Amino acid sequence: MSRRTIQLDMPVHQWLMTHSLRETPIQRELRDAMEGHPEGEMQTSPEQVQLLSVLLKTMQASRVIEVGVFTGYSAMGMAMSLPDDGVLVACDLSPEHMAVAQEWWDRAGVSDRIQPRVGPAADSLAAMIDAGEAGTYDFIYVDADKTGYPEYYELGLQLLRPRGLLTFDNMLRGGRVADPEINDESTVATRELAAKLLADDRVEYSLNPIGDGLAIAMLRP
Ligand SMILES: C[S@@+](CC[C@H](N)C(=O)[O-])C[C@H]1O[C@@H](n2cnc3c(N)ncnc32)[C@H](O)[C@@H]1O
Repeated sequence: MSRRTIQLDMPVHQWLMTHSLRETPIQRELRDAMEGHPEGEMQTSPEQVQLLSVLLKTMQASRVIEVGVFTGYSAMGMAMSLPDDGVLVACDLSPEHMAVAQEWWDRAGVSDRIQPRVGPAADSLAAMIDAGEAGTYDFIYVDADKTGYPEYYELGLQLLRPRGLLTFDNMLRGGRVADPEINDESTVATRELAAKLLADDRVEYSLNPIGDGLAIAMLRP
């Protein structure tokens, strides 16, 4: 029992990693490949991807959107959790990132479930709404530019079906959200989304201290 979330020091974190992860060899290989990569810190933590997988399987999700692909680690884990006819629309600004991710998805055997969309994610999401896809997605994972989060929230809510989940990474920003001296535009946008999530009666809401903070919002029926 505990009334507060415990601090994860290195030994406890190490224990969690060695006693809970069920990564496949290709997932582990992609994670290892980003060790020491100049942008490797952008990769979603493995325990968080595993949580996303459990949520997808619990919901029997078959239609998923990811905003922010990088080299494809979180998308790979989510795609592996979908049925054979499942679809994951993977949105990223960078053609270079998407090309690297595609190679990893090919190797993992999940490319047939992934539809890449290169360009600003807000445009990709708006195009999906224009194409008549509103209300058809089970799950959305957002892990991209923080200044876009408030807009991804409104577009994401339109794309979700009732009881679908909209999730956001980096809601704690390494603790910066709680420091009133820090007011860069990404932190301000994250606080703006946090305030909106807390007050918004369109959703059920939970902010989870896993990774860098994972917000989970369920669209109320
Ligand atoms: C934190 S990384 C994503 C990490 C990824 N989820 C993983 O597990 O490896 C953020 C990604 O968002 C992309 N990005 C940044 N701004 C964007 C935008 N406006 N639209 C779409 N993607 C964007 C970046 O190119 C980068 O690949």
